[in-house]
Amino acid sequence: MSKRRPLVAANWKMNGTLSSIRPLLASICKGIAEGVKAEIAICPPYVYLGEVARLLEQAGIALGAQNLARHDAGAYTGEVAAAMLKDYQCRYVIVGHSERRTLYGETDAVVADKFVQATKNGLTPILCIGEYLEEREAGETENVLARQLDAVIEKAGIAAFDKAVIAYEPVWAIGTGKTATPGQAEEAHAFIRLRLARHDDKIADQLRILYGGSVKAANAEELFNMADIDGGLIGGASLQADEFLAICRAA
Ligand code: PGA
Repeated sequence: MSKRRPLVAANWKMNGTLSSIRPLLASICKGIAEGVKAEIAICPPYVYLGEVARLLEQAGIALGAQNLARHDAGAYTGEVAAAMLKDYQCRYVIVGHSERRTLYGETDAVVADKFVQATKNGLTPILCIGEYLEEREAGETENVLARQLDAVIEKAGIAAFDKAVIAYEPVWAIGTGKTATPGQAEEAHAFIRLRLARHDDKIADQLRILYGGSVKAANAEELFNMADIDGGLIGGASLQADEFLAICRAA
């Protein structure tokens, strides 16, 4: 088993204003400077990328975006291209978050295109996959994960996962306060790793798989202690510095 460096990524979603993110980042940077072992990334809304990049200078914290366009450039009003994210020093980009899939109709095919755009432009995609509650209750969790994963492997090729991160986010756990148990999460993570190993052992072994869905300071450690959980994608709790820092330290 290789040692994977944990990653804790903050997904701010559509939250924050210039006046709220400045003190939030000042506290986060201060806490991180006191020492954490995990890699940390912040994914603010697009319009704040420039400001956050500036505030994170020298902080040793990576920048990420929450979404990107599936096309290179052109007449796509309101969209933001991968090359533009590179321009703003993004290292990561979240792809296929369940809110994008559910609220904005992103299909597996769209998600796969976005993943390709990210890797082609030197960004590391954080590919989100996860099942709805009805799917879990119907015993469909592994089928759903396999379908979402295979769509991307087919289009991008397994080699593209060399520079990717996966986030397992059960939809029923996102923003609900209901976390998957460490056992439930580990089972899904191990399944995802096995699915990738069918194509390439080495890539499967070194790929980081984050857990997301109501992670907070109180449950982070027991989740991160599981063998196949390599950090977290943090929504609500990433908007509070103390809570987010405690999660970063737990990784
Ligand atoms: P949550 O969100 O931590 O607020 O549940 C996680 C996510 O959607 O990435």
